[in-house]
Amino acid sequence: MLEVKDIDVFYADAQALYGVGLRVEEGEVVTLVGSNGAGKTTTLRAISGLRPISRGDLVFEGSSIAGLPAHGRAELGIALVPEGRELWPSLTVLENLELGCYSKTARKHRDESLERVFDLFPRLQERSKQVAGSMSGGEQQMVAIARALMTRPRLLMFDEPSLGLAPVIVTQVFSIIRRLAKEGLTILLVEQNLKKALEVADRGYVVETGSITLQGPAGELMANEGIRSAYLGI
Ligand SMILES: Nc1ncnc2c1ncn2[C@@H]1O[C@H](COP(=O)(O)OP(=O)(O)OP(=O)(O)O)[C@@H](O)[C@H]1O
Ligand SMILES: [Mg+2]
Repeated sequence: MLEVKDIDVFYADAQALYGVGLRVEEGEVVTLVGSNGAGKTTTLRAISGLRPISRGDLVFEGSSIAGLPAHGRAELGIALVPEGRELWPSLTVLENLELGCYSKTARKHRDESLERVFDLFPRLQERSKQVAGSMSGGEQQMVAIARALMTRPRLLMFDEPSLGLAPVIVTQVFSIIRRLAKEGLTILLVEQNLKKALEVADRGYVVETGSITLQGPAGELMANEGIRSAYLGI
């Protein structure tokens, strides 16, 4: 479904990605893990069209999307749940969700999509008129996921969905990810919580200082000695 081919990304003169390559097949959950500053967010931003690539290509369902602006990629079904949620804090939950269905096709399916996200997150229906900024961290993460689902994504990318959340909420977030995967959604998951990520993923990639250094089935990565000592502390 998605192929990231040998991409370089810069911030001004500073290179953040060096020939990063990865692929995500339809229906897969793929995780991209690595420590702070490794280039995980940059990779997701490049796929979303929020950051230009200076070399390589991005192929979605057989066609290059490298020339498409971010909203064009969203129309194709590429959605991102960004690091730090990025909600509109003074708008209500419902208004935040409505902003997820700005594209023509998404707008057409608004009611159906709302029903789906309220079924996934009953709490958001109860709180639909509350301003998003006054929700708890966990609830805000749910709003961010729900907003991305309102775009009717084919590929859903998560950037550190568990960041800053209490363990019980982290478990809830991962159970939502698992449920979406079971329903057939294709997922690219960026996480620092490597253990949780590898538990839910089919395959994984490790990124270090802007390059992919290791890849394989989740079970293999979990058993990898280097990973266990570097990321799991065991
Ligand atoms: N807006 C920016 N301007 C300049 N440099 C940036 C910018 N955003 C990221 N970088 C740099 O690019 C590199 C990769 O950053 P990135 O945010 O992709 O890492 P990350 O793996 O997501 O880290 P974290 O786990 O901390 O979120 C880092 O060296 C970072 O300092
Ligand atoms: Mg990041």
